[in-house]
Amino acid sequence: MKLQIDYNNMMADYVGPQEGFTRQDIESLAGQLQAAHQRMLAKRSAGEMQWRDLPWQQEAEVRQIIKTAREVRRRCENFVVLGIGGSALGPLAVQTALNHLHYNELPPDKRGGPRFYVLDNIDPERVAALFDIIDPAQTIFNVISKSGSTAETMAQFMIVYQMLRQKLGSGYAAHIIATTDAERGNLIKIARAEGYATFIIPSGVGGRYSELSPVGLLPAAVCGIDIEELLAGAAYMDQLCRTADVFANPAYLLAALQFLAMQRGKNISVMMPYAESLKYFADWYAQLWAESLGKRYNLSGEEVFTGQTPVKALGATDQHSQVQLYTEGPFDKVVTFLKAGSFRAEVDIPRVFKHVSGLAFLGGHTLGELLTAEQLATEYALMKAARLSFTITLPEINPFTVGQLIQLLAVKTAFAGELLHINAFDQPGVEEGKNATYALLGRPGYEAKKEELAARPAK
Ligand code: PA5
Repeated sequence: MKLQIDYNNMMADYVGPQEGFTRQDIESLAGQLQAAHQRMLAKRSAGEMQWRDLPWQQEAEVRQIIKTAREVRRRCENFVVLGIGGSALGPLAVQTALNHLHYNELPPDKRGGPRFYVLDNIDPERVAALFDIIDPAQTIFNVISKSGSTAETMAQFMIVYQMLRQKLGSGYAAHIIATTDAERGNLIKIARAEGYATFIIPSGVGGRYSELSPVGLLPAAVCGIDIEELLAGAAYMDQLCRTADVFANPAYLLAALQFLAMQRGKNISVMMPYAESLKYFADWYAQLWAESLGKRYNLSGEEVFTGQTPVKALGATDQHSQVQLYTEGPFDKVVTFLKAGSFRAEVDIPRVFKHVSGLAFLGGHTLGELLTAEQLATEYALMKAARLSFTITLPEINPFTVGQLIQLLAVKTAFAGELLHINAFDQPGVEEGKNATYALLGRPGYEAKKEELAARPAK
């Protein structure tokens, strides 16, 4: 069951010659595409893109994850992920995509596992609110941090650690699972010293590319998701994304068209799923695309200020808030629709109010038909207004197609980074804010930064 990718509405034949591209436009990139492909190959063989091999190289880990997940399901009522950014958005996206939309509210025998929470913020109200509704004795916390030092995640972990010790005494360590790097950071040291169950994020796998590592696999398996199918889908897509032929490689084609669009000033990338279950994929993708491509310098050290601002939208909800801007506002966007080929539940619209012609036409259809029609209609309205869009259809939303989607978007992002000649795997722009936070809270070694902050203009 393969994802279908429709890029017609990026092309001049559909949206017109002013905005749309031609096959020749894509072919004119041949030299850049080939060079980018070669760099992808070189990075992959140098182990710098280990995330691409995750679908194949984790047999032992997958067995261990499935075993641990079984144990977790047996032992607890709540499973809480402590993490942020790449250590939180993937688990949330996959769980929402593949489980019941009111998973947590279902009775235990109707759920695939314990109630699932992702604590990806440090808002004290949110943290306190979660503690109000969970019983620590019935909860397992999965602290996820690649660096093992992110302030938000480590602060949450410290709070949970203390609470568990106070409430559970000596058995507290069995309520913590750490997912982190094998060497870097404090988390691995603490986990080893304390004897927590621990999963390792491989070294060539950065935060936002880590969903198919234990970062995403453990929470998914705990919630009853078939992670072997998820990986099989990703492996299948990865095979499709190996060829240098841009017209046969879905990730390369999407990246090449986005690259052409960026060159014409399309600075905004909208992701608009027409399926509530894919809502958080737009969040996951926003981080992947923004943090990977938003760069001041290219690999030659020149100032380039690259990237597209991601916007998250949801069909049909945001038709009534954002689509007016997409059709009539500035010509600065590329919209990616995510479409469900079928829905896991269907609801009939009853044939009532037959005498009211403005309503009678709805009766006899299903909500799925209405939503699908609205997606097509929005796509059409954008095309008519000469606006660029892609549509990625998941014939069914299942672990195999979701695995494909994850790998497709990750390879697309990495390849776009190569075309832009930037490092898609670092995030230097986040560092300044992190360092300023450390200085404000008095972390040793940040005294100079504290002075720098004190000298800023008064407000
Ligand atoms: O993509 C990234 O590297 C970041 O967004 C990280 O995922 C995020 O900062 C969390 O980092 P860590 O997993 O090290 O706690």
